[in-house]
Amino acid sequence: MPKAELHIHIEGSLEPELIFALAQRNQIAIPYASVEALRSAYAFTNLQSFLDIYYAGASVLLQEQDFYDMAHAYLARAAADNVVHTEIFFDPQTHTARGVAMETVLHGLHRACMDAQKMWGLSAVLILCFLRHLSEEDAFATLEQALPLRDKFIGIGLDSSELGHPPEKFARVFARCRALGFRLVAHAGEEGPPAYIWSALDVLKVERIDHGVQSTHDPLLLQRLARDRIPLTVCPLSNQKLRVFPDLAQHNLGALLDAGLVATVNSDDPAYFGGYLNENFTQTFAATGLGAPHAYQLAANSFEASFIPAEQKQALVGRLQAYFLKFE
Ligand code: ADE
Ligand code: ZN
Repeated sequence: MPKAELHIHIEGSLEPELIFALAQRNQIAIPYASVEALRSAYAFTNLQSFLDIYYAGASVLLQEQDFYDMAHAYLARAAADNVVHTEIFFDPQTHTARGVAMETVLHGLHRACMDAQKMWGLSAVLILCFLRHLSEEDAFATLEQALPLRDKFIGIGLDSSELGHPPEKFARVFARCRALGFRLVAHAGEEGPPAYIWSALDVLKVERIDHGVQSTHDPLLLQRLARDRIPLTVCPLSNQKLRVFPDLAQHNLGALLDAGLVATVNSDDPAYFGGYLNENFTQTFAATGLGAPHAYQLAANSFEASFIPAEQKQALVGRLQAYFLKFE
């Protein structure tokens, strides 16, 4: 079915084969003997155990063409899954800290997004994420570096190690981004408590919550999310691999939909978590017993939750309805 993807870290789409190819192209040593050895290191116990290997993998990205190749590979996979619109996170601090210029990152990613529209009719936009384990001062410096290129990204997000780094740590920089007219999102309630979701909404004033699955521990918060139609970008295979839920069968996606929330399904870091978007749908549906009406709702939610202009959203929901009518 046609759908949007709203929670994908482009550095998390870097497949082991491409890590090895880029390491060779850029003459960078990596501490794994083979693609298989690297892939077998992908056994995570929590968010931090994943992030350590994810940042190490990104160290092979140096040239504009590297960023293009990474994004192009993801966009080709997304198009094959019938993703018709995608909003892609990138972590510039992971690259600028290694001496890679902001222009190198953004020019490569943006060119791949433009080509996706031409090649597959897939619209793709970029969201710059601040790393929350770093300081707010560092986030301000990153924003300054990116502002000359502001026509190349539409929004600002917040990611990396959640526990101990509450949203309010970034209150001032998000206020500045809001004044500048950027769309705002933040990871909250992946491993962190419902209080982090409240402060992402009330302090950072984000329009969407990334993950947000811990919200089911707070009935008042569920009411607020439903009332204000604040979307959650849920990532089931990520939650399974990072042990947010003991197994996929216990995932609360169905409960979030039952509570009337604008929940969506997304891949987060597909190269690390064992599946792109369709795989997230099929595995989650097989494990939890969700069915076709839920699939329709999740795809419709993905368009509602996106930052596409309203008239284009309507057209995409129309395409979705036409798709489902074929099965009536
Ligand atoms: N960066 C990449 N994937 C992430 C996730 N699932 N949570 C926080 N930061 C991330
Ligand atoms: Zn994420």
